[in-house]
Amino acid sequence: MELWLDTADCDEIREGYAWGVISGVTTNPSLCAKQNLSFLEMVKTVCAIVDPSPVSAEAISMKRDEIVAEARRLAKIAPNVVVKIPCMPEGLAATKELAAEGIRVNMTLAFTPNQALLAAAAGASFVSPFLGRLDDIGEDGIAALSDICEIYERFDVATKVVAASIRHPLHVTQSALAGADIATIPFKVFKMMVKHPLTERGIETFLADWEKVSK
Ligand code: E4P
Repeated sequence: MELWLDTADCDEIREGYAWGVISGVTTNPSLCAKQNLSFLEMVKTVCAIVDPSPVSAEAISMKRDEIVAEARRLAKIAPNVVVKIPCMPEGLAATKELAAEGIRVNMTLAFTPNQALLAAAAGASFVSPFLGRLDDIGEDGIAALSDICEIYERFDVATKVVAASIRHPLHVTQSALAGADIATIPFKVFKMMVKHPLTERGIETFLADWEKVSK
């Protein structure tokens, strides 16, 4: 499973990429609103930092023709832009047109296997089921993700599944077990993933013991 970073914060992206384990970035309007840069500047900067990894940038238009026009503008920013489009009828129609032009779409705000089937039928390159938001309303995000992965596997669907709205490290493990192609993860969760008290204690012990023999 590929690991992507879910943030619009360029400092986090630089720091995360230095770990050498991240292969893509997703943003959304709420993440962008937390930054000081304009949206365009942010997309340009992130695309340059992570080039050639994919960077998802969201179109906010609601009508098919406007979504298509906005997506074309976004795709021109850099070759690694993937356009995020919400799962809705106008979004599906726009995705069909964009896919035919070779513009990659990440169908976002997907919550059910049926939405994932529609995204695939429209030709989306990626679909993003939002696990955490399902959990928030008392549903089972991982169960929905597993169903999507199983259906895609059964019908040999080319659309890649991006486990999104990840809230904690267990979501990452469960996404991998469910067969997600990618998990897009906030940096604070990455920092939790790398840590284990036994790792820290082990490093301390090894360093202390090394001191004794290296003299
Ligand atoms: C994914 O692409 C979204 O940007 C993100 O995972 C949404 O997460 P949230 O539900 O924590 O806002």
